[in-house]
Amino acid sequence: MKPTIYDVAREAGVSIATVSKVINNTGRIGEETRKKVMKVMDELNYQPSVVASALTGKSTYTIGLLIPDLANPFFAEIARHVEDFSQQNGYSVVMCSTDYDREKEAKYISLLRQKSVDGIILASRCKNKELLRDLIDNRFPLALIDLHLPEFPLDSVEVDHFQGGYQVTHHLLSLGHRTIGVIAEESRSSQERIHGYKQALEDAGLMFEECNVITTDFTVEGSKNATPKLFALKNRPTAIFACNDLLAIGVIQALRELGMSIPEDVSVAGFDNTILANATNPPLTTVDQPKQEMGRQVVDLLIKNIEGKTGPKQRIILLPEIVVRQSTSAPKG
Ligand code: RIB
Repeated sequence: MKPTIYDVAREAGVSIATVSKVINNTGRIGEETRKKVMKVMDELNYQPSVVASALTGKSTYTIGLLIPDLANPFFAEIARHVEDFSQQNGYSVVMCSTDYDREKEAKYISLLRQKSVDGIILASRCKNKELLRDLIDNRFPLALIDLHLPEFPLDSVEVDHFQGGYQVTHHLLSLGHRTIGVIAEESRSSQERIHGYKQALEDAGLMFEECNVITTDFTVEGSKNATPKLFALKNRPTAIFACNDLLAIGVIQALRELGMSIPEDVSVAGFDNTILANATNPPLTTVDQPKQEMGRQVVDLLIKNIEGKTGPKQRIILLPEIVVRQSTSAPKG
């Protein structure tokens, strides 16, 4: 298999960004480091010319898409819409699932540059900020979806997470719930949704209780294991807001194992309005993210960037919309 920029970095004991700077002769690189990298490139017979051609603007009409987890329907639906709108504009899409892993991010980004993609869309996460800085320094076309990184001058499209968290909490409060648990993931979007939850509680004259919010990992299993902790509290919740539909599946599984019925014993709401929301029993109340419009806008922004029609970077924030289904109702009694 042809060596990649990732292999050169590992063998030379430097970052991907350093190798990229040596190839492109940009940035400040010590002579010793430069020699070491060049030596490794020779030893591995690494062909930087492929990367160089990507920087000479030769278009391959291909876009790279990095998403954290292709198995999560939210990301699968985002990928679907990105692919549809890219095809409509004459571009193919290479999809990479990074498992929230910074090394895989780096590996896929260097692979995509090896393949001379014209631009890359990053979805939801970017852990490898150093590599992102290098791509920006090389004026490589980028755009963000479901992600905003204020420290970087990049176009982005996302939903108003705060507004969505507020809407779903307001819905539960309007049904009469007063103790609402939250199952969240370690992410900026969850944090902003929780801010909306807090604001809705405050607007209803209710105190926010830290113990009512449990943060877990990104998995159904993590959510299922976290949910019972909410029922060990003195004030047990009569409703649970899961910060995305995948976590809501874990909540539902946990409630079933606790012998509780939904929504009679506990109401459950999610966020994303993915295909899961209509597949649960009962169908899930959730917050719709306008995934198709997000896909259209991020492809439009990236292609403008690829074609050099760049202006001021745009931060597009779209409105979420609550979708009420049978998983939420007034609390018993
Ligand atoms: O389901 C994945 C979640 O992570 C979505 O809500 C998306 O917004 C991202 O934050």
